[in-house]
Amino acid sequence: MFHDSNQFPENNADLDEQPQPPLPTLNQDHLMATTTRTKPDMTATPAFDMVLFGGTGDLAMRKLLPALFQAHQSGTLHPAGRIVALGRGALTLDDYLAQVQSQSGPHLKADFASAAWASFAARLTYLKLDASVPADFDALAALLGTDDAHVTVCYLATAPSLFERICTQLARVGLNHPGVRVVLEKPLGHDLASSEAINAAVAQSFTESQLYRIDHYLGKESVQNLMAMRFGNVLFEPLWRREWVDNVQITIAEDLGVEGRGEFYDKTGALRDMVQNHLLQLLCMVAMEPPASLEADAIRDEKLKVLKALKPFAEPDVASKSVRGQYRAGAIDGKPVVGYLQEADIAPDSRTETFVAIKAEIANWRWAGVPFFLRTGKRMQERLAEIVISFRAVPLSLFGGPVALQGANRLVIRLQPEESISLHFLAKEPGDGMRLHPTKLDLDFESTAQKRRADAYERLLLDVIRGQLGLFMRRDELTAAWRWVEPILECWERNGEAPKSYTAGTWGPAASSALLSRDGASWHEEL
Ligand code: BG6
Repeated sequence: MFHDSNQFPENNADLDEQPQPPLPTLNQDHLMATTTRTKPDMTATPAFDMVLFGGTGDLAMRKLLPALFQAHQSGTLHPAGRIVALGRGALTLDDYLAQVQSQSGPHLKADFASAAWASFAARLTYLKLDASVPADFDALAALLGTDDAHVTVCYLATAPSLFERICTQLARVGLNHPGVRVVLEKPLGHDLASSEAINAAVAQSFTESQLYRIDHYLGKESVQNLMAMRFGNVLFEPLWRREWVDNVQITIAEDLGVEGRGEFYDKTGALRDMVQNHLLQLLCMVAMEPPASLEADAIRDEKLKVLKALKPFAEPDVASKSVRGQYRAGAIDGKPVVGYLQEADIAPDSRTETFVAIKAEIANWRWAGVPFFLRTGKRMQERLAEIVISFRAVPLSLFGGPVALQGANRLVIRLQPEESISLHFLAKEPGDGMRLHPTKLDLDFESTAQKRRADAYERLLLDVIRGQLGLFMRRDELTAAWRWVEPILECWERNGEAPKSYTAGTWGPAASSALLSRDGASWHEEL
């Protein structure tokens, strides 16, 4: 059993005070009954209003409404919880519901004729709001009320250029009282200066504890499992350091291309879209010191220390420690796909990278000298997100053969497509003689889990409603991440080299393997 996000201490405070059940010498039924009796209800949410700015947009349709529907279906949402979708169109609620059914349908997994859908739809309200019309915010305040004991979540699923205006207007109409929480979607800026400007503007109207900067990778079950594994067991901690770890690899590979987001993506590229946030957050979860408690700031303080300890990139490092790639036409699952330059809304001579591999280093006592290889790309061979900890080889080969057999001595934490943890090691080959062969211990959470597992957005939305900040980024973390990424972007810009071409459906440019082989390593491949 692993930690749910709702086991962060805001909910846990009184759990510590409770008498603990006896150690499990009881039979399983008795134990479960005991656990159920003593455990407070950690799943309920308070009454809330969830206000979706960008309520007709892609994120609301693909992720937010489906996540809220799942939470509704599982009985987690307070019966008085309302969802207020905002959009610029003058829609009736029926129009909006019809739009949700057609656009959100494939993601919602709902039977629109069911009672569950009807009761979910009853939570929904639609309000026309144009962020440039102050009177629209007065109408919003009239709808919501400004009772500061009531939880109001404002999810800004809009272009970040609107964040300042929205926050200023919310404050003007009194919707910045202590019960209001604001969720800020990425991208939070294009570089350090623009990210600072957004944060400073938003801070004029809201305190830091009201701001939930979302990185949906932190809501993935396996990322929390990584914390549970590291800090809930003594087993790995002694090995989790430079003396025993040879290298760490973090891969987020997608088989999708830019999927209709060409205009945004061409200005953004993989480093800003994935490395600055998701990959660096995963790196922090692997590398951070044990926090003093599970309180949000205790965790965020430790992640910040990691980000600050990242070795800055100097000009010569760019060639030896980073690889940029861009996909050309190829095939995914046997079907031909066009190259990046042929995608809609992409400049024909674009130099935007759709692939990045980077060797990052953390200059602290635990990790000095251990390469952290980060890799992400679009149109890669398969959808795969994983963290691989490769341990050092034994000092002496007693059994003949090389000391480091390919793939052995590794801990592989899979985030996608399935969630699993596997320990790869060497064992004796059955039969006569004493030959070793690589094998693995597998823990597949999907097949062993007893409970439905919430999707990342569902978990994070529930955390916001419950006021739990632990899985959201603090302003200083974001700043530190940009500080590390920005010189890489600048060096790339200065050297003006085109990204290396790779065929869609492969693992990226050959230079990506060369990046690791310079350290005697190679990208992990499944046995
Ligand atoms: C988003 C990026 O943050 O993450 C997208 O903007 C990317 O480009 C997506 O496709 C990947 O998320 P997931 O959860 O599907 O791996």
